[in-house]
Amino acid sequence: MATSPVYPPSPEFVRRAQVQGMEGYRALYEKAAADPEAFWSELAEKELFWFEKWTKPFETDYPFVKWFAGGKINASYNCIDRHLDTHRKNKVAILWEGEPGDQRQISYQELHRLVCRFANVIKARGLKPGDRAIIYMGMVPELPVALLACARLGVIHSVVFGGFSAEALKARIQDLAAQLVITCDGAWRRGKEVRLKDAVDEAVAECPCVRNVIVYRRTGGAIHMQDGRDHWWHALDEGVSEICPAEQLDSEHPLYVLYTSGTTGKPKGIVHTTAGYLLHATVTMKWVFDLRDEDTYWCTADIGWVTGHSYIVYGPLSAGATTMMYEGAPDFPQPDRFWRLIEKYRVNIFYTSPTAIRAFVRQGDQWPNAHDMSSLRLLGSVGEPINPAAWEWYHKTIGNRRCPIVDTWWQTETGAIMIAPMPGAVPLKPGSGTLPMPGVIADIVDLKGRPLPANQEGYLVLRKPWPGVARTLWGDAERYKEQYWARIPGVYMTGDAARRDEDGYYWILGRVDDVMNVSGHRLSTMEIESALVHHPAVAEAAVVGKPHEITGQAIACFVTLKKGDWNHEEVAEELRKWVAHEIGSFAKPEQIRFTDALPKTRSGKIMRRLLREIVTSHAVTGDVTTLEDLSVITRLAAQQDEE
Ligand code: WT7
Repeated sequence: MATSPVYPPSPEFVRRAQVQGMEGYRALYEKAAADPEAFWSELAEKELFWFEKWTKPFETDYPFVKWFAGGKINASYNCIDRHLDTHRKNKVAILWEGEPGDQRQISYQELHRLVCRFANVIKARGLKPGDRAIIYMGMVPELPVALLACARLGVIHSVVFGGFSAEALKARIQDLAAQLVITCDGAWRRGKEVRLKDAVDEAVAECPCVRNVIVYRRTGGAIHMQDGRDHWWHALDEGVSEICPAEQLDSEHPLYVLYTSGTTGKPKGIVHTTAGYLLHATVTMKWVFDLRDEDTYWCTADIGWVTGHSYIVYGPLSAGATTMMYEGAPDFPQPDRFWRLIEKYRVNIFYTSPTAIRAFVRQGDQWPNAHDMSSLRLLGSVGEPINPAAWEWYHKTIGNRRCPIVDTWWQTETGAIMIAPMPGAVPLKPGSGTLPMPGVIADIVDLKGRPLPANQEGYLVLRKPWPGVARTLWGDAERYKEQYWARIPGVYMTGDAARRDEDGYYWILGRVDDVMNVSGHRLSTMEIESALVHHPAVAEAAVVGKPHEITGQAIACFVTLKKGDWNHEEVAEELRKWVAHEIGSFAKPEQIRFTDALPKTRSGKIMRRLLREIVTSHAVTGDVTTLEDLSVITRLAAQQDEE
């Protein structure tokens, strides 16, 4: 195995870091391993505000777990109120720029007013703790305001990414039996309006559970408002009180549900609860992003995904940061929009995805080089493996070789970062997420759960409960047990293949299940297959991920058509649109191939691994190699098929 370069932290960085040197990291890690109860109790006391203290740090009723049972807490209070009697009261909490260039700076005090008012609006609509609100908005400050207002009342929020279609939105509203939908008229994307309210109208027409739709005016486009059901945010906000005490909620009160793709056609509602999740998001914000009070921190994710929940809203605000939000596309009006924003707002910490980085590589160095990005001191990566070539480019061209890069591995289900370097402690190796966080007991095992030696590829598993772990799947505790904890009893299966090198560093290779990762967005092959077979022309479909230079993976579909005289080109285009309609435009397949039959086992299971081999064997030309060794994943997947 070729040895990779190692980048130790610079002495200047170490000197000012929250966790200093490998001794600092090891001390924390060992303390957490030796006495997790004491470790997490101390952090919970120090990092969070409690209305009432808990009785026990954690209790397991395998595989279910409760953190800080008996405690009373509120996430909105922790993200806002507790900062108000500190030096942070007039600090900018949310720094925002819209795609057209409009700007807002919302201080912690102002955020408090906005959140209290909107919480009162929701309350006046009759929502109570435990009720569900769907949030389907673009990246405007009112989106985090809506999350925090729900959290203030104990209303469980579920954000649906604005790129999802009306069909996908409807399925989520129905699964949650949500009473309220919060949306915008539209959102700006590459200068065009994404018509969110139209999609809501289409979805809600078949959701009798929805009593109220609240619409924030962003684009000013003409929309339909249904009398009695639909209300303008600004109209309801008139004359509303700015006082709204935060509900004192149980530690385990559900904070949110976020749908993600699994290995079946039906998305899973990942349930995160309050105290443990918030603690995990808060401490990783400090450990991994080495947050300082004076930092301007920018995570480029959309709040529709877990990264935005944990690292735009809950983690940064709980830690008292200035969190930046940008509404639009990275290449609008020109490919240097991100670099322009970094220069303009003097961003110190910048967290983005490998897909974005690879797209920037392709656009050329002239775009970042035209900007002064000397304010940056730390860079981050999330969502998919970062190939060493993209890492090196990010380090040199964006970070000017001065900024450590934190490659953060985690999942919607883990709630917050699990494997990542502490930048003032852990020497970096490009392409590796390096070492687990304190309290995270990771391992590489075979299918029987036996630990594998260094450098052998296997399944990445997690052994002990951690505070941010998803507690269950909405309405389906059985599936939760079976999907994550049953394959190897007592052990959490991540679904990723990985290896650990001789220094204990983790190298993530990619998914071993039927989950694809396209531009860091998680999609299930089965979900796309079931969308395809819904189409009247389609007899059968099989979908696999195909390596892609920029997006990591792309969607490749093998389709058999019903009898008829088809124009393949037309049908392919029609099917692409169909998938966008059923799921969302980000799920549009790159490739549709027609075939007379699909390869199957004797029991009739489609052999996706053969198809994976077909699409990978003539792939990836050009100089950007992905880290993923797909043959490994194919082998591991085959092993699973045979079990
Ligand atoms: C899957 C989880 C983590 C929030 C965004 C995605 C892949 C994520 C990394 C990374 C290699 C990564 C894994 C994981 N992944 N981060 N730093 N290096 N792979 O959350 O949609 O739940 O997807 O994304 O395959 O299982 P998600």
